[in-house]
Amino acid sequence: MQKFVVCGGQKLSGTLRVDSSKNAILPIIAGCILTDEPVELQDIPNITDVKKMFDILRAMGAKVETGDGRAVIDSSTISRFEIPHHLAKDIRSSIFMLGPLIAKYGRARVAYPGGCDIGSRPIDLHLFGLRELGVNICEEYGFIDCYCEKIRPTTIHLDYPSVGATENIMMASVLGSGETTIFNAAKEPEIVDLANFICAIGGRVEGAGTSTIKIYGKTTLHSTSYKPIGDRIIAGTYLLGVAICGGSVTLTNCNYNDISLLVNKLHNSGCYFNVESDKMHMEANSRLLSIQNIETQPYPGFPTDLQAQVMALQTVSEGTSVITENLFETRFKHVPELIKMGAKITLRDRMAIVRGVESLSGAEVSATDLRGGASLVLAGLVAKGQTVVDGAHFIDRGYPSLEEKLSSIGARIERV
Ligand code: UD1
Repeated sequence: MQKFVVCGGQKLSGTLRVDSSKNAILPIIAGCILTDEPVELQDIPNITDVKKMFDILRAMGAKVETGDGRAVIDSSTISRFEIPHHLAKDIRSSIFMLGPLIAKYGRARVAYPGGCDIGSRPIDLHLFGLRELGVNICEEYGFIDCYCEKIRPTTIHLDYPSVGATENIMMASVLGSGETTIFNAAKEPEIVDLANFICAIGGRVEGAGTSTIKIYGKTTLHSTSYKPIGDRIIAGTYLLGVAICGGSVTLTNCNYNDISLLVNKLHNSGCYFNVESDKMHMEANSRLLSIQNIETQPYPGFPTDLQAQVMALQTVSEGTSVITENLFETRFKHVPELIKMGAKITLRDRMAIVRGVESLSGAEVSATDLRGGASLVLAGLVAKGQTVVDGAHFIDRGYPSLEEKLSSIGARIERV
């Protein structure tokens, strides 16, 4: 089990290029199933979740060639439609294979997906959407078995704007004839990116980024070369890292609109920003003021995927912050670890009250999920002495070479 060893107290300064978005590329990889022509994906992030999605495609018979930060996926050779437990258990995105497999082959058998332990994470909305499209679904023996003669285009009202369910329904509706409308769709930038990818392979999707998405069935799709958007969560994590340590950073491959809420909150706390079209510069020169109220919400609200990292900053900010986690019920597992480092945090159900302290002290702590792990690294960057963050593999799921990136702007962090 690899660990990160962090020696805190360095100011950070430099330029970081933000990698492609994990949450954008994972459904896009599944979307490659929709066409028989090869698809090139550029600028693929070197993270374990992407590698696992490629393993799943290969296990189904697809050809995936990778190198130089790109991948070429040829799905025309897919001959197996089952994703076994050992491939699905570590990665929730395995569920994205359902929509495209059904659209293309009329069948799919997927073991219940795994992923970070941040709550119960049901998939009822995915299955509801697919059933509305005429898919017969049988849930037995730990598998979701789907069968469908022909997708039946329809209107789907989601009870909640689930990101994954919206993406699965979009991909299930791309092939064939007729118009499918999703009401109360998720509006995340990654949804827009998936829609752009579908259009790039010849599909037709309108309204992505709003709560009403229309998908017009097409009979054939074709090859493309596609580059996913920059990762707004990585960008936010870097900004929070520099905010916590002090210093300055220029981020490239980063769209301000995708993280404007965080930028505004950091600006109100005392950071200075200069924003250009796909890059931004931030300076943090003194101890920041607490962000009094943070509530995670679906986009464009505050992202749950930055809740743990923003909490690390609040532990050393001046004042008290109330952080409410509305999306996932057990997404506070980083809290006891931050407390070991001297943070003053009180938990009340889904609410964390964080009283900023002058300084944290290094400790041995354990990551138990991706974003919680990133939060502990950020806390280590500012803590006095040495912090050892166990469970680096959780962090590797979403941050390519985190230690190299942070070292390049002056942090003292290494992997052991
Ligand atoms: C995606 C992101 C994840 C992020 C989350 C919320 C990917 C690969 N992952 O996850 O990083 O934290 O959005 O921004 O893009 N829900 C149901 N039934 C369902 C589906 C979801 O009740 O069928 C609930 C979930 O339990 C959760 C909420 O809806 O409380 C949000 O989940 P959802 O938007 O689906 O997130 P994911 O797609 O799993």
